[in-house]
Amino acid sequence: MKKIISLFLSAVMVCACLGGCGAKQEGNSSPENKETVENSNGTEKEVLVMATNANFPPYEYHEGDSIVGIDAEIAGKIAEELGMELKIEDMAFDSILPAVESGKANFGMAGMTVTEDRLKSVNFSTSYATGIQVVIVKEDSDIKSVDDLFAEGASHRVGVQINTTGDIYTSDDIEAKGLGTIERYNNGADAVQALITGKIDCVVIDNEPAKSFVAANKGLVILPTEYITEDYAICFSKKDTELLDKVNAALEKLIADGTVKSIIDKYIPAE
Ligand code: ARG
Repeated sequence: MKKIISLFLSAVMVCACLGGCGAKQEGNSSPENKETVENSNGTEKEVLVMATNANFPPYEYHEGDSIVGIDAEIAGKIAEELGMELKIEDMAFDSILPAVESGKANFGMAGMTVTEDRLKSVNFSTSYATGIQVVIVKEDSDIKSVDDLFAEGASHRVGVQINTTGDIYTSDDIEAKGLGTIERYNNGADAVQALITGKIDCVVIDNEPAKSFVAANKGLVILPTEYITEDYAICFSKKDTELLDKVNAALEKLIADGTVKSIIDKYIPAE
């Protein structure tokens, strides 16, 4: 069923893009006050502000003073294509959509899944990656498969990052059905910490960050069965279809010429 929803959303997303790409709205380029930076050669470059939550390796995370990762690098390449200067703003995951909608940021890129609900408030680009929601447990856990979470009489304490799809799905599938409680954390690392200290029984999160968290902490495993497959895309204000079109053109070029794949392969080596 979830798979079907995901397929449906991919179709909606493509339609939204096909429709949105042709039908131009007021072409209002947010943020309202366009920022520029001066290059060493004296020319001005427009600043492209990206909203993200940099606690989500390997898509975005801090390394020294900079924010690196798949999203940061793809966004850097897109900015280069557009002749713009990328500026990354780190914020809480649930501040990203408001920042984009209000024009504080030009776009949001954060391993963000395209969902029907988010499509009501923002537009999404062409998808550039696939994510899978997985479940992290302690090695000796009695939860052996994802289905154990939905079994009759189940009663688990499930950790998620607030407002992510992990939160949305488990709220429906587990909490609303009385099959357990959901503990919502500001970031994935905090949820994993709570799992280690025994405050919760599992964490539902995207597979790539899950792999980094499990690699960094002893005694944790990812369940072999998957919860749901999703599409990641970049989100834009509904008012800024002009930028959406430009970014889609750049992104599609970077997908076609293999740049996106080589960035993903660099951060996610084939097993
Ligand atoms: N893919 C999930 C979602 O869209 C989680 C994304 C979390 N990203 C982050 N940078 N913290 O809800």
